[in-house]
Amino acid sequence: MKGRRPRPLDDGDSGEVRVSGHLSWAKPMKNKRDFLLLQSATIASMSIILDCTATAIKDAADSLIKGDLVAFPTETVYGLGADATNKDAIARVYKVKGRPVGHPLIVHISSLTNLDKWAKDIPEYAVNLATAFWPGPMTLILPRTDLAKDFITGSQDNVGIRIPSHTVALALLKEFEDQGGLGVAAPSANRFGAVSPTTASDVEADLGDFLSMSDQILDGGSCVIGVESTIINCTLIQPSILRPGAITKDMIENTISASVSQRISNIESIKIKASGLLESHYAPNAKVFLTGSPTLGDGFIALDSFATPIGALRLASPKTNTEFAQILYKAFRQADIKGLSRIFVKPPTGGGIADAINDRLAKSATDK
Ligand code: TXA
Ligand code: MG
Repeated sequence: MKGRRPRPLDDGDSGEVRVSGHLSWAKPMKNKRDFLLLQSATIASMSIILDCTATAIKDAADSLIKGDLVAFPTETVYGLGADATNKDAIARVYKVKGRPVGHPLIVHISSLTNLDKWAKDIPEYAVNLATAFWPGPMTLILPRTDLAKDFITGSQDNVGIRIPSHTVALALLKEFEDQGGLGVAAPSANRFGAVSPTTASDVEADLGDFLSMSDQILDGGSCVIGVESTIINCTLIQPSILRPGAITKDMIENTISASVSQRISNIESIKIKASGLLESHYAPNAKVFLTGSPTLGDGFIALDSFATPIGALRLASPKTNTEFAQILYKAFRQADIKGLSRIFVKPPTGGGIADAINDRLAKSATDK
């Protein structure tokens, strides 16, 4: 447990700490952020790193190199990271997520320098997109090199690559590469089909029971974007958006001076598998309704300008669409914590990030 701190249940003053659901006792040291574990025999789960210092990042990168899993914050959602060249570590990612094997994973790298290691025959428009929006909330699907094995790509001839902008993510990737790593595969750190995590506590709640003692969760606060990256297929002459996100259709079209399609119905014809493109995904336990009115005890999510229908339980009142994206998954999680069976959502309008929100809403509202 050296260099790692368990996550306090409260502000630490009581001295009670919890490590992934197991109660244990610890005493705060002089520096309140340091805890001494007095009893660790019963602790069988991962560590949560509250303070992502340079030492903590080094330790986390070391864990990745050894084949352990490290969940880390990105600007979109938290990812469950593993060495993208380590078949066994990747097998654990699938197991921990409960994700069917064969769904491809996004490889995260720290800079454009490493792009050629994973992807080849990169079209000029993709270079333009990469230059404009990386580091940032965008994933490019590109023809793969031999480094991108079948266990990463779902046996497809392409690979998803992203350079995230969150400082903790970038620091981790850089350190991992300095230690000889080539890329970190990281799906969203939730169980398959469920809502992506936007805080370290969400990751703990979803995956705590499935992670091992040598795994870690880096706590980098709440994700500022709140919905997953824009995925762009760059394997054809023209790019197309497979999953809308914060890098919007307009932003992409302005960068490449051409129009792009945002339809995902051609997914079969281009033989690209993307689990986030399944009809039912990103779903809370509660049933999501995008039309109709809530009745007594139903959850309600809408922009601030909409009044709460009588009897409904307001879960969120974002002032802007950007804020809507930030809080959507949190509001879904709140509904599940409260045990609600129905959530009514007023979908935002106006394009841009609203496209991403509406895409996730449509998928969460599909019958499972
Ligand atoms: O914002 C994000 O993209 C987050 C953070 C952690 O980077 N990651 C994320 O990963 O959302 P995941 O695995 O939960 O969703 C990525 C989607 C999946 O639907 C996956 O199937 C698809 O991207 N994908 C990954 N590689 C692909 C590829 N080579 N071809 C087609 N789809 C791919
Ligand atoms: Mg996901």
